[in-house]
Amino acid sequence: MFSVSLGEMKEFMRNFHSEMRKGLAGEKSSLRMLSEYVKKPRGTESGIFLGLDLGGTNFRILLLELTGKRKTRILSSSKFLLHKKHMTGAGTALFDFLAACIKSFTDKYKAGIDRKYRIGFTFSFPVKKRALARGILIRWTKGFRARGVEGKDVVLLLNESLKRKGLRCAEVVALANDTVSTLLARSYEDPDCDIGVILGTGTNACYCERAGEIINIEWGRFSKLRGTPYDKAVDRLSINPGEQLLEKMVSGMYLGRIARLVAEDLPGKGKLPGEFKSEYMSLIESDSSKNMQKTKNLLKKFGMPDPSYSDRKLLKKACSMVSTRAARLGAAAIASVITRMDARLLKKHTVAIDGSVYEKHSGFSRKIKQALKEIFGKNTKNIRLVLTKDASAKGAAILAATAAS
Ligand code: BGC
Repeated sequence: MFSVSLGEMKEFMRNFHSEMRKGLAGEKSSLRMLSEYVKKPRGTESGIFLGLDLGGTNFRILLLELTGKRKTRILSSSKFLLHKKHMTGAGTALFDFLAACIKSFTDKYKAGIDRKYRIGFTFSFPVKKRALARGILIRWTKGFRARGVEGKDVVLLLNESLKRKGLRCAEVVALANDTVSTLLARSYEDPDCDIGVILGTGTNACYCERAGEIINIEWGRFSKLRGTPYDKAVDRLSINPGEQLLEKMVSGMYLGRIARLVAEDLPGKGKLPGEFKSEYMSLIESDSSKNMQKTKNLLKKFGMPDPSYSDRKLLKKACSMVSTRAARLGAAAIASVITRMDARLLKKHTVAIDGSVYEKHSGFSRKIKQALKEIFGKNTKNIRLVLTKDASAKGAAILAATAAS
C-alpha cells in the first residue's frame, strides 16, 4: 500500500504538470499557483531590514544587513513561542501579540538608531496577493484557525496592530510565503537557485515561472493521489477534512498520525496511548541499539511496559514505510517543478530546502536524493539540494530590501 514505484512517481509528475497548467490558466485545480508579485533578488540590494516569520510554533524576528555583494549579516534575532490561544483565538489578539514581540525586539535593539524599520513579513499560509505588500489569507492550515483572519489582508492587520502598540517607526513593506523567503535567502547568494521547498510541519514549494515571476504552488493541496485507508482516517480526524491531501501524506504534522494508525492495525496490537509524534518515528527508524533498546525505552514512556522485540521491529518497519513514501512523493513533486522549468534538465538548479522533516528525519534527505536519481538518471548532477536553515525571516528581510531598491 505504501510503496511508490518509479512508474508511480512519473504518473504523479504528469498529473502535477497538468494541475500546474490548469492552476496557471485560472482553471479549477488542486494547485493554487499563486503569483507572489516578486522576482529573484539581484544580489546588489543593500541596507538594514527587519524580517518576520510566522507559520509554526515560533514567531521569529531578525535584523539583517545586506552588503550589496551577495552577502548578509544577522545583527540580531529573537524567537517567541506562540501559544495555542494565539493560534486558535481571536485574530486581533494574534496580531497584537506579534506587534508586542516586535516592540520588545526593537526596544532592545536600539543601538542608537533612530530609524524607520522596513519590515518583510513571512506568513506561511496560502495568501492571495494583489501587490508585494497586500495579501488576503485564503485559508488557515497546519492547525491554525485564529478567528477573523481568513478573507482579510494580513499586512493591514499587522500594520494596524503595530500602530496600536505605538510603533510608528515600523511598517510592513513586503509579504511572502516561507517557500518564497527560502528561495530569496538562497538566491541572494546563489544565482542558480530557482526553487524554494519546505518539508516541515507543512509542505509547499515555489519556483520561477517563465518571466521570472515567482509562483507559490501550494502543493500541500495536491489531490491526485492514491491514499490508503490510513490516510483517509487521518484526513477525517483532522480539523480540515478534504483539504491539504499531499501535505497529510508528506509533512511532519501528519506522519506520526499515519504511522500510529498503521501500527495499531497490525494483527493483535492495541492502541498506542498519547500523541505519536513524527520525531519518534525518526528515532525508531534510526534505532541501531542492541535489541532496539532505545525504542523499548520510548515505548515505555507511552505506557507499554514490555513490547516484544518482534513488535519493535514491526513498528520500525511501519514507520519506515510511511516516511519512505513521504520522501518519494516529495521527490516526485520536486522533480515536477524542475521539469516544468526545464523539461530536459539542461541547466543547473539549486533547490533551497528548509523544514524539520528534511533536516532531521532520519534518512529522509537521502531517500529524496535517491528517488531523484531514479527519475533523472545521470542528469541529477544538475540538481543541487541545499538545506537553507532558518531562511524564512532572512528571506523576508531580503524581500523588504528588494521592495526598497
Ligand atoms: C501552507 C503553505 C506553507 C507550507 C509550509 C502549508 O500548510 O499552506 O503556505 O508554505 O505549509 O510551511
